[in-house]
Formats: sequence, C-alpha cells, structure tokens
Amino acid sequence: MSQTLVELRQVSKFYRDGIGIKQVVRDCTLDIERGKLTVVIGPSGCGKSTLTRLIAGFERPTSGTLMSEGRPITGPHKDRLVLFQESALFPWMTTEQNVLYGPAARGEATPQAMQLAGSLIDRVGLTAFRRKYPTQLSGGMQRRAELARALVNNPKLMILDEPFRGLDAMTKSLMQEYFSGLFQEMQATVLFVTTDIDEAIFLADRLIIMTNAPTRVRKVINVDIPHPRKLADIVENDSANDVKIRALSILHEEAMRSFGGSAKASADFVQAYAARIGRTDSMTPGNPAP
Ligand SMILES: Nc1ncnc2c1ncn2[C@@H]1O[C@H](COP(=O)(O)OP(=O)(O)OP(=O)(O)O)[C@@H](O)[C@H]1O
Ligand SMILES: [Mg+2]
Repeated sequence: MSQTLVELRQVSKFYRDGIGIKQVVRDCTLDIERGKLTVVIGPSGCGKSTLTRLIAGFERPTSGTLMSEGRPITGPHKDRLVLFQESALFPWMTTEQNVLYGPAARGEATPQAMQLAGSLIDRVGLTAFRRKYPTQLSGGMQRRAELARALVNNPKLMILDEPFRGLDAMTKSLMQEYFSGLFQEMQATVLFVTTDIDEAIFLADRLIIMTNAPTRVRKVINVDIPHPRKLADIVENDSANDVKIRALSILHEEAMRSFGGSAKASADFVQAYAARIGRTDSMTPGNPAP
C-alpha cells in the first residue's frame, strides 16, 4: 500500500470577484501520508481553508490534480471528513444522538454503530454527558463530542480546520495533549490546519508551511517526536525549538510580505524571538533559517 493517501499536484484555485480574478491557491503540490499527523500552517487569510475545501471535495480546483488513493477527488466522500472551527453539533440533539448522526443519516445506526459510538464517547471522556445537549457542555467538551462524531464514521482522512481556535489557553493546551493521545490510539491520518505555531509544532509529524496568498507550499519540516506528546516535554525539547525558529522565520517573512515589510525587519523579529527563548546560536542575522 502506498504511503501517500492524498496527493495534490500543481493545484490552483482562482475566484472571480467584483474587480477581476482573485488567485487564492497557486501551483500547490503536497502529499498527505497515511498514519501521519500533517499540520498546515500559514499566515491568516493565505488560503488554508480554501485548500481544505478542495481536499474535502467541496470545491473543484481551477487547474491541477487532487487524488485520493490514486483516484481523482471529484466531490465530497465519507472517507474524507472535515471538522470546522465552528461547532457543528446539532443543539437539539444529545451528545449520543450527535455522535450517531452520520451512521443514522446513512441508515446505518446498527447495534455495532451504537456500540462504537458508546466506546468513542467513553474514549473522549463524555460518558456522564451522553444524554446532555450541546449547551450543557463546555467548549472543550463540545470539541471532544465533535471528535467522537467524526471518528464514528471511521474516515480515512480527518481534516481539522483550526478546531481549537477560540478556546481559552488552558483548554486549548489540554485539547492538544488529548488530541495527540487520541491520534496515537486511533492510528488515523490527519490534516490539521492552524495559524498557531506552538500548536503546529506540538502536534505535527510533518509541518507544511504555506506562503502568503496565492498560497503554495513553502517548506516541509519533519518533527520526529513520538506521540502521545506532553506539553512539558515539547517546551524543553531542543529539536522542537529549532523547528519553531525555522518555521517562525519563514512565517514572519511571509506575513511581512503582506504588510510590505523588509527582510531585515523579519530577521530582527526572529532574532529577538530566538534571544527570548535563549537560542540565538541557530540564527544568523539578516539570513532567516532555511
Ligand atoms: N468563494 C470565494 N470567492 C472569492 N474569494 C474567496 C472565496 N473563498 C475564499 N476567498 C478568498 O480567499 C482568500 C483566502 O481565504 P481562506 O479562508 O482560504 O484563508 P485562510 O488561510 O483559511 O484564512 P484564516 O487563517 O483567516 O482562516 C481570502 O482573501 C478570501 O477572501
Ligand atoms: Mg481558514
């Protein structure tokens, strides 16, 4: 079996707006490998959500090819499941009903599906809340219910578009640790989109750094730390901190491009950051990391 689950080759997506053509994704080539947690990070507004909609099959590219298991992606499929930033739980359904929504909608709410739903609810720590409605759950609980609701469909690829944005810092960190553990347990293939560098490095096996719009892959960095990861381990991990500085340098350069800033300003920022975390050794002034 090929290591690559999804491959994008020279994918572009242009929209027509009031003034003319808006290029959002241009010549984007990337692979999503089986069993890996691939994190896509890029400046806000660069085109990440557009990319996820293309991979999910909700939209068609203007040019280029997208393949899943060697077959063209022509539309949405239950093998590729998207979890958006906004809560998608139905407010009129209990946790249990929400988790069973997918199988029920397909007419597959079999005793086996119900058993799987029960064990997933247990795995995300919501057994005591299985008869509660979304408004009776905290933000973190809602996200875990959504994870169970996605996993019950046993997707080949789970796409998460900034799923923890909007959670408070403490809940967000707990969710990241939780997700790292769940990922390791489920042996899933995940595409996780974020603008948060700490979240990206904490979770990624492969970190894909995108350029500013029109977006494409700028750099792929492997993060070789086994899951489940603990926050305390990553904070002190030298290789994680090195990856962070390299990634920050590239991201800052991309962000500065949209603000019309200079390469020097970008290098100064990264230098100051590296000094703050005591890692000036890995940086050369005016020459952002490769
Ligand atoms: N249907 C559309 N028609 C026209 N422009 C669009 C459409 N969808 C997205 N865009 C534009 O594409 C650009 C990228 O949007 P997208 O939501 O993909 O970025 P993003 O990286 O996910 O941003 P964020 O980090 O804020 O979530 C934006 O300028 C947006 O206005
Ligand atoms: Mg987005």
